[in-house]
Amino acid sequence: MTAPVSHTPRKLIDGMGRTIVNLRISVTDRCNFRCTYCMPENNVEFMERSKLLTFEELTRIATIVSKMGISRLRITGGEPLMRKDLPSLIQMLNGINGIEDIAMTTNAFFLKDQAEALWKAGLKRLNVSLDALDPEKFRDVNRKDCLSEVLNGLEAAKKAGFKSIKINAVAMRNFSETEIMSLVDMGRTEGFEMRFIEFMPLDSDQVWAREKVLFGSEIIELIGQKYDLVPIDNSREIGPASEFTFADGKGKIGIITAVSNPFCDHCNRIRMTADGTLRTCLFSTQETNLKTLLREGASDEEIDQAITDAVMLKEPGHKINLDSFERPKRAMHAIGG
Ligand code: GTP
Ligand code: 5AD
Ligand code: SF4
Repeated sequence: MTAPVSHTPRKLIDGMGRTIVNLRISVTDRCNFRCTYCMPENNVEFMERSKLLTFEELTRIATIVSKMGISRLRITGGEPLMRKDLPSLIQMLNGINGIEDIAMTTNAFFLKDQAEALWKAGLKRLNVSLDALDPEKFRDVNRKDCLSEVLNGLEAAKKAGFKSIKINAVAMRNFSETEIMSLVDMGRTEGFEMRFIEFMPLDSDQVWAREKVLFGSEIIELIGQKYDLVPIDNSREIGPASEFTFADGKGKIGIITAVSNPFCDHCNRIRMTADGTLRTCLFSTQETNLKTLLREGASDEEIDQAITDAVMLKEPGHKINLDSFERPKRAMHAIGG
């Protein structure tokens, strides 16, 4: 008697027993900002356009991983909206069986014109980078004077229908302290989840130092001076943020303590760079070249096997806090935020 065909979706489990459900797809390493914590100000070398995976290639990878247990995709960059015709890609990904959630991380500069098309194409959630509400501080950290464009982009996203909008601010000592409360207040007023991310050693300028990180515990203490916060149990089992609600019931905030209290034990993600390499950790020093497989005629099974093998070796965690820490060769904009 032949065994019944199983329709239970496969699970993608790494060597540490973590189940991987999330693929972050970078669609470009280009960006119209030059944030100090990410890119150098001048002479950035970008990937040749011919090296970027095409929408068809991205969709093929997403289809393969959807059968391996990945149900959540996040589009990142660089700035993903620098890639032409992104709503078409969203539509293609949205048509894949098994993909339940498509989100994007963006600086929101181009959102005013694209929010509606992205929403209609099937994008469900937006995470927007915004580190300061003071226009001069915004300009200093992002090296671009355009706070109002970003705020207009956020407004357009709300209008287009996005219900889940999170704001990411990188938390840096002697910079973020003055911005935290106004960002928190804006989040509460506008219905955005405000999240503060500890500055990580991924900046191309290599100026990162532990003294420059504003730690999550300090941020919570600062916010606690004005608002009572209630921790949400187990939030880190779903994503990297430790989340809190406000005791008055109005809104939510998160802290991503990637340096002081890493969430690696719960990590459920892998990433693919715009030039088609698979990275099993933000801080990976090894990569798996999927582009060559795609362009040299590999079968779906062969690509599946390459991904399965890489995931088996997924790093237990990053080593920022150890002497043996090695910076990845790529900066954040070339990995995918
Ligand atoms: P959701 O929980 O689905 O909203 O996604 P997310 O929080 O992972 O998405 P987002 O792109 O907004 O990530 C926020 C920030 O957290 C990123 O910009 C990074 O700075 C940081 N981050 C995301 N993923 C990782 C990771 O795997 N490891 C580390 N150390 N930091 C990460
Ligand atoms: N440390 C922490 N977060 C960073 N990001 C970029 N560089 C860093 C860094 N060095 C995050 C920002 C941005 C997203 C794309 O990546 O939050 O919103
Ligand atoms: Fe996962 Fe690596 Fe990020 Fe830790 S640093 S959460 S292992 S991707």
